[in-house]
Amino acid sequence: MTADLKAVLAGARVLPVLTVPDPATAGPLADALAAGGARCAEVTFRTPDAEQVLKAMAAHGGLAVGAGTVLTPEQAERAVAAGAAFVVSPGYDEDVVARCRELGVPVVPGVATATELMRALRAGLDTVKLFPAEPLGGLRTLRALAAPFPGMRFVPTGGIDASRLPSYLADPAVLAVGGSWLATPAHLEGGEYAEIRRLTAEAVERSAP
Ligand code: 3PG
Repeated sequence: MTADLKAVLAGARVLPVLTVPDPATAGPLADALAAGGARCAEVTFRTPDAEQVLKAMAAHGGLAVGAGTVLTPEQAERAVAAGAAFVVSPGYDEDVVARCRELGVPVVPGVATATELMRALRAGLDTVKLFPAEPLGGLRTLRALAAPFPGMRFVPTGGIDASRLPSYLADPAVLAVGGSWLATPAHLEGGEYAEIRRLTAEAVERSAP
């Protein structure tokens, strides 16, 4: 029985989406996120050392760390081997979904259309990522897409920042909001861990009920 993302997030409503070029920054990054009150993180497979970063961040202990930008079943296998607590894709790929379910890891595929939502539903999923949320039309689009799928929960991601966070989280169809604004490659390159901590604390505060 595969745990679902809701169980893994355990009430956390802000999901930092991370692209980490240098694995040496994984430890201080995890410290800064956790100090800001984050309880989860998504390490994107967009850099050569993403598995190493994922392992290091998971070892921190304070964060449920998943893998993002997982495009193939092979990447899903590598993500799980590195300790991913969940797997996120930008789009809907049946083979990625099937492999994650065989591996027993929660999978959150990206959707942008009702057709993709129907596929997710037929695969037995109850949580999807709405991507890219803001360019798709933001909350208005989310509400319209969610209406025919009352049991489905969404993790909108893409173009969202602290100012838009509360309105997304106020929608009952939204499980959590993802975003890269909390910790960008530029922050990491500049060693701006205090700023990462500040942005995380601000987001966590704005996500409180
Ligand atoms: C993702 O992969 O989820 C997105 O790149 C995050 O979107 P954002 O950078 O606009 O927050």
